[in-house]
Amino acid sequence: MSRYSRILGTGSCLPPTVVGNDELAARLARDGIDTSDAWIVERTGIRQRYFADPGTSSVDLGEQAARRALDAAGLMATDVDLIICATSTPDMIFPSNAALIQGRLGASGSAVFDVQAVCAGFVYALAIADQFIRGGLARRALVIGAEVFSSILDFKDRTTCVLFGDGAGAVVLGASDAPGVLATALHGDGSQASILCTPGRVRDGAVSGTPFLHMDGQAVFKQAVHVLERVAREVLDKAGRSAADVDWMVPHQANIRIMLHTARKLGIPPERVVQTVAEHGNTSAASIPLALDVAVRSGQVRRGDTLLLEAVGGGLTWGAALLDY
Ligand code: ACO
Repeated sequence: MSRYSRILGTGSCLPPTVVGNDELAARLARDGIDTSDAWIVERTGIRQRYFADPGTSSVDLGEQAARRALDAAGLMATDVDLIICATSTPDMIFPSNAALIQGRLGASGSAVFDVQAVCAGFVYALAIADQFIRGGLARRALVIGAEVFSSILDFKDRTTCVLFGDGAGAVVLGASDAPGVLATALHGDGSQASILCTPGRVRDGAVSGTPFLHMDGQAVFKQAVHVLERVAREVLDKAGRSAADVDWMVPHQANIRIMLHTARKLGIPPERVVQTVAEHGNTSAASIPLALDVAVRSGQVRRGDTLLLEAVGGGLTWGAALLDY
């Protein structure tokens, strides 16, 4: 058994269509819905998002992100013995996105399953893969976050449809004697399910209940800033480190106000926060690995840097991971 798991490579994929705030506002105006670039930027920091066309799925995006992460790690798909995909917008009810991606990669034999923890899904999946590797159940894992949230957005609800985008990110995690993932923490509170949910389900050949995302934005905001600070401190304590040791915070890119508010409470300056929400919007489980890949490829995040990952999502679910990259 290895003492640690560590990130060997990262990858990401965005669909080709960029939709800026003005373009989205014009589209909504055709249905009598009023919004503006100024409102969206001021409340969320989002300037644009990427939307997949109807023929592009979360498996399509996840497969590309996985291939790029494997390339960056210098590995083949057959070198991996665990594939986890974090998603709330899977291609099918079953089999899992992880199984479908494995089929496309030609990596039969590895364990495959999805994690459904909404925006906290990637942190959940990373923590699970870390435990698999440290427990000796796997030596190399592909951990993917892949979403097409545009497919569950109600474009007549301006309070939600301006927030989200589509995309995928992935990391390859491998067994290592040196750090690595230092600490993880996961939590949930199912009594808050109704403040952020997509309640529809398939029944008798049709969707029963609404298949659109519903959110009480202010309730989510209040919970988010509270639990994110707490869980970030929990992983720092577990690892015997302090916020001053964090080179880069890589938060779930929900909303610039939540991200910077949490950083401020932790004493992490904004210039140490990886920020891609302006370009990507909120891509749910894909947002952290997407942001990480952008930061790695731009040279922002370097080998040896200490990273604090944190996320909150529907459930509610929340979690954090502290790692040496
Ligand atoms: N364009 C213009 N006006 C809007 C829009 C819009 N897109 N959406 C809402 N408004 C209006 C409202 O109708 C309201 O108008 P009123 O005062 O006439 O009633 C006004 O703007 C203010 O609405 P609030 O809901 O009070 O706006 P708030 O300041 O709370 O901002 C937001 C809304 C951005 C959703 C905020 O609550 C928030 O950030 N919540 C956190 C939720 C979040 O980030 N969710 C992401 C998914 S969950 C996750 O990833 C963790």
